[in-house]
Amino acid sequence: MIRFLIPAFLASAAHATSTPAPEYDYVIVGSGPGGGSLAANLAASGQSVFLLEAGGDASDSLYEQIPARSVAASERSPHAWQFFVEHYEDPEEAQRNRLYVYQSSNGSLHTELDGPIPAGAEPLGLFYPRGATLGGSSQVNAMNFAWAPDNEWDYIAELTGDNSWSHEQMRRHLMDLENCTYVPRGTPGHGFDGYLQNSHPDPITNFQSDHIADYVAEIFRVAEDIDPESVEHMAELLRRDINRIEQDRYETPLMFVLPTAFNSRGRRSSIADYINSVIDAGDPLTLSLHSLVTRVLFEDCEDKPKANGVEYMVGEALYSADRRYNTSQSGELRTVRAKKEVIVAGGTFNTPQILKLSGIGPRDELESLDIPVVVDLPAVGNYMQDNYESPVNIQADTPWMNASASPCTGTFDDSDPCFVQWNVNGTGPYTGGGGSFFLTYRSSMSWDNDTDLFYLSAAGSNAYGFFPGMSENHGAPDHWTTSIVKMQSGNPAGTVKLRSKDPRVAPAINFNYFTERADEDLQAIVEGVELLLNAFDSIGTNYTVVLPNPEIDMRQALKDEAFSHHAVSSCRIGTNATDSCVDSKFRVHGVDNLRIVDASVFPRAPGAMPNGPTFTISRKAFETIMEGDA
Ligand SMILES: Cc1cc2nc3c(=O)[nH]c(=O)nc-3n(C[C@H](O)[C@H](O)[C@H](O)COP(=O)(O)OP(=O)(O)OC[C@H]3O[C@@H](n4cnc5c(N)ncnc54)[C@H](O)[C@@H]3O)c2cc1C
Ligand SMILES: *[C@@H]1O[C@H](CO)[C@@H](O)[C@H](O)[C@H]1NC(C)=O
Ligand SMILES: *[C@@H]1O[C@H](CO)[C@@H](O)[C@H](O)[C@H]1NC(C)=O
Ligand SMILES: *[C@@H]1O[C@H](CO)[C@@H](O)[C@H](O)[C@H]1NC(C)=O
Ligand SMILES: *[C@@H]1O[C@H](CO)[C@@H](O)[C@H](O)[C@H]1NC(C)=O
Ligand SMILES: *[C@@H]1O[C@H](CO)[C@@H](O)[C@H](O)[C@H]1NC(C)=O
Ligand SMILES: *[C@@H]1O[C@H](CO)[C@@H](O)[C@H](O)[C@H]1NC(C)=O
Ligand SMILES: *[C@@H]1O[C@H](CO)[C@@H](O)[C@H](O)[C@H]1NC(C)=O
Ligand SMILES: *[C@@H]1O[C@H](CO)[C@@H](O)[C@H](O)[C@H]1NC(C)=O
Repeated sequence: MIRFLIPAFLASAAHATSTPAPEYDYVIVGSGPGGGSLAANLAASGQSVFLLEAGGDASDSLYEQIPARSVAASERSPHAWQFFVEHYEDPEEAQRNRLYVYQSSNGSLHTELDGPIPAGAEPLGLFYPRGATLGGSSQVNAMNFAWAPDNEWDYIAELTGDNSWSHEQMRRHLMDLENCTYVPRGTPGHGFDGYLQNSHPDPITNFQSDHIADYVAEIFRVAEDIDPESVEHMAELLRRDINRIEQDRYETPLMFVLPTAFNSRGRRSSIADYINSVIDAGDPLTLSLHSLVTRVLFEDCEDKPKANGVEYMVGEALYSADRRYNTSQSGELRTVRAKKEVIVAGGTFNTPQILKLSGIGPRDELESLDIPVVVDLPAVGNYMQDNYESPVNIQADTPWMNASASPCTGTFDDSDPCFVQWNVNGTGPYTGGGGSFFLTYRSSMSWDNDTDLFYLSAAGSNAYGFFPGMSENHGAPDHWTTSIVKMQSGNPAGTVKLRSKDPRVAPAINFNYFTERADEDLQAIVEGVELLLNAFDSIGTNYTVVLPNPEIDMRQALKDEAFSHHAVSSCRIGTNATDSCVDSKFRVHGVDNLRIVDASVFPRAPGAMPNGPTFTISRKAFETIMEGDA
């Protein structure tokens, strides 16, 4: 291996948009958990890497650093793109969701939450943010780090016949990438020297009233058959680790606080920081920001086409999902060459778009847009799936929280005591993740011995999904909202289709909710809702149900209100080109020197949350590539 030494002036220039040198070992598209960590790891091992990212580097921004600002970051440029997606093909069914977004001719966005939809406003879809910045969605996500159930890894090993996907092997990759701060160094199954720091929010701070303690204690009784003695006892139980090494960790219901990717200074543990640290160390990583990849380039070889570079457009906000998008501004087209491989990691929506623009995808769709077919690969942009998330929101007579007791002003400046505490000590209400109590629970519909429901619960919360302006939806002390995440997603019916051959135009995305396994999934969620409502009844709280909509049949309400933001599988792993996109070594079927390393390759949803699993497969891809390179 040759180690490239980059002169200091070049290394620092690499932080800005840089003029590409003609050739690199690896050209990587997208800097999220999939592509970003892979690029940094390859470069740290001496491979020359050119990493293209459509967004800029905003990792210094408080939006990305303060855990409590993650929702705000996810709906803002320059941090994120706003996609609008469908849940159903039938417009009437799709638009039953009150978060459905319409656009007036002057560009303003409307949902039923703001009152009647103005006449003439066009249906756009449901708001679905994705990070579009150095570090990808992991710079704006809720940082929840739930490692996949072992069964999900073993499923991939079985599907592909490749035992390197078994949970024992995948655990090794987790240990390599993790810097775990919440268990003692040396605890089996965790890593302590990796680039992603995981912490446990302190559960004691969540018990802000006796009312909350009563409810949490009741859930302990019904879900786990534990009768807690005190708040301290509950806090101790909540510190149990859902990511521990034991294979039965998803089998019995468990109440816990979820490991969250923030560091010991209370900041988001950021893959962007890791990327920048590798550049600063002088490793051969060249970063090209504001670079929208438009297609992969190929050369003809005897048997298969071979990827040898990409074409990209340099400029800011060139993509239609960017709020700042302006059709009359254009970017400069450039190309960069890959000596060894091109690796696409644009995420579950963009990876299939990039492949299709490059001529890899379903023949009919490519031909209808006059895109020359390089490989007819029907699985590109098909079989997409997502976890369903069902909000259960109740309003109680007695408030759960005392809002006036909170010192936070929400201004995030020196006049805000909570900001000062975060800034000085890295502690307090602005640190931590997206929920305060988590629970795994097994419905009667689980297809194995594992729990199939994953609850994120927060007193004083009124959050119920994604819509423009969602970060302005402040706490509501008398509400309690729990999001029930359906694991074991059984609906591989989602599609990502090109609207145009213009690479700047976002694709048409439809999850086709509840197409397959609908009765089973709805039954599981209904059981999950009943558990919560029964517990509210048991503690004698007077309450009204806000969601699921109590005025209609519960199953219909769940179909209307389910939301999601964990899209996977639009370029799934499998053994052959008939119904999959890549093989177990991430190689795209039918072409040489092209891999996909991001959330789009999971053959099915990896448990409740894709972020940790995506970091893990990226680490696996690093090992796979280095082995091939040896
Ligand atoms: C608001 C929000 C909250 C979330 N919360 C959680 C959570 O708490 N826990 C969890 O497990 N998961 C969560 N997720 C999901 C998780 O973040 C994603 O599953 C994960 O980031 C996927 O990684 P990825 O590498 O596949 O894609 P991404 O992280 O989406 O990265 C793709 C990158 O590629 C870039 N890109 C795309 N197209 C191009 C192109 N043509 N040219 C150049 N660059 C391009 C994008 O700008 C982006 O930076 C959340 C996601 C969001 C948006
Ligand atoms: C745009 O149009 C909508 C609906 O007609 C209206 O409510 C809104 O105030 C308009 N916004 C601006 C900025 O003109
Ligand atoms: C891991 O986290 C600890 C605690 O914050 C820190 O001191 C240490 O430097 C981190 N290790 C790495 C490799 O980043
Ligand atoms: C779009 O860009 C053009 C050309 O730079 C500029 O004249 C115009 O004002 C921009 N439009 C908007 C809405 O910003
Ligand atoms: C709420 O907090 C405020 C400020 O700390 C306090 O004055 C008030 O008594 C509290 N109310 C209740 C019901 O505890
Ligand atoms: C930071 O922590 C120290 C030690 O606990 C404490 O004395 C100090 O008041 C804290 N500062 C802020 C701003 O919270
Ligand atoms: C479930 O557990 C039982 C008892 O341990 C075991 O016999 C069975 O094989 C398991 N089933 C699955 C699908 O793992
Ligand atoms: C619930 O409401 C009933 C009727 O209004 C009332 O008698 C009862 O005291 C209330 N219970 C609680 C816990 O507030
Ligand atoms: C392709 O793989 C799938 C899933 O592994 C399998 O069901 C199917 O029979 C295979 N098709 C061919 C043609 O080998």
